[in-house]
Amino acid sequence: MITLANFTARATDHVKETENTVAARQADMKSMAAAAKLIDGMFKDSSSYDSSLFKVAAETIYKKSGGALVAHFEGNPVVAGSEASSSIMIEHAKFVALANDLGIYANSLASAAESHPDALTPDMRMRAGDVIGLGPFGKKVDPTTEISSMPAEHAFHMMLQTCTSCHARFRVKTN
Ligand code: HEC
Repeated sequence: MITLANFTARATDHVKETENTVAARQADMKSMAAAAKLIDGMFKDSSSYDSSLFKVAAETIYKKSGGALVAHFEGNPVVAGSEASSSIMIEHAKFVALANDLGIYANSLASAAESHPDALTPDMRMRAGDVIGLGPFGKKVDPTTEISSMPAEHAFHMMLQTCTSCHARFRVKTN
């Protein structure tokens, strides 16, 4: 038999769970932002490059991308205190694709750090003609096929654009 007290306790648990999820996903987003900022600083001033810190930052983003990111927004993600948009449920496949793209870029940055232990070398830089977002024929870059030929700096900019694209589509500004 389910008593009322039982039911109330469960409902409270559920509210707590939801709050935890919102707090957890916002904390994950914040640590991704901190990691991206660290990598950005190293691209801006390559004398500050430290491959192990760069790698840890890229791995931080990688671990919080893909399935881990999507799991934070399961069910109805639209709750008080959250900027999650209801379009996450409506355009779920697009949301998942962006979360996965983020992982592909972050993972390639981690490998770049691994293969460049001593210095941020010119081969990690964007090349003349590298286009961010839209390719020469206005086609969206598909990271799964293009990542292997992409210099780290290009992958970094594509990664930031993935953050921005997802926010533009799936995050509502509450202020
Ligand atoms: C697949 C979608 C998606 C991707 C990719 C994504 N975000 Fe977010 N981000 C969101 C959503 C949705 C929210 C709102 C979460 C909430 O308030 O519940 C958010 C919130 C944030 C916040 C605010 C957190 C807070 O304290 O309220 C920051 C900062 C942030 N994201 C940074 C980033 C950075 C940096 C990246 C890329 C490295 C990134 N995000 C990639 C969907 C995404």
